[in-house]
Amino acid sequence: MKFFVDTADIAEIKSLAASGLVDGVTTNPSLIAKSGRKILEVIAEICDVVPGPVSAEVTAADYDPIMREAAVLRKIAGNVTIKVPLTPDGLRACKALSSDGAMVNVTLCFSAAQALVAAKAGATFISPFVGRLDDIGYDGLDLISDIVDIYDNYAALKTEVLVASVRGPLHVIQAAKMGAHVATLPPAVLRSLYLHPLTAKGLETFTADWAKTGQSIV
Ligand code: E4P
Repeated sequence: MKFFVDTADIAEIKSLAASGLVDGVTTNPSLIAKSGRKILEVIAEICDVVPGPVSAEVTAADYDPIMREAAVLRKIAGNVTIKVPLTPDGLRACKALSSDGAMVNVTLCFSAAQALVAAKAGATFISPFVGRLDDIGYDGLDLISDIVDIYDNYAALKTEVLVASVRGPLHVIQAAKMGAHVATLPPAVLRSLYLHPLTAKGLETFTADWAKTGQSIV
């Protein structure tokens, strides 16, 4: 499973990228607003740090302005992935952009039917929002399972399932068991994947015992 990091905070991205665990980045208008940065500058900076796909979301609703925004975003770097909403105009833009060789992430997916049409529109990634479904009393992971099953039925569909709106490590583990291709994780969730109290405790004991030996390896 690939890990993307779901943030526009460049310091977090740099720190996590150094761990070698970051395969890409996703942003959205809320995350850009939270960064306090100008979108074109921050996306360019992220693309310099992470060579994998970096999602930059359009903010227009209609086809023509979406395409104009996408043209500007695509010029930033070769690894920019254009993020479009799962609307009729967004899907039309997805088809046009993917036919023109752009990577496209179709976002705000909340049903298997939406995921199917996004794949038919040539999406590189489909972003089902697990946490936001959980928030309203649905099981977001059921949607991941459905989409993975549907895509598996059709070898011609190349769209990758990008699990979004992830709230914790269990979302990641369950989605990985289902065969989702990518999870985009808030920095704290990515860190929570490798932290364990027994690892910390075990290391503390080993370090204390090693000090008693008076030895040094180098
Ligand atoms: C993904 O691309 C979205 O930007 C993100 O995962 C949304 O997460 P949220 O529901 O925590 O805002």
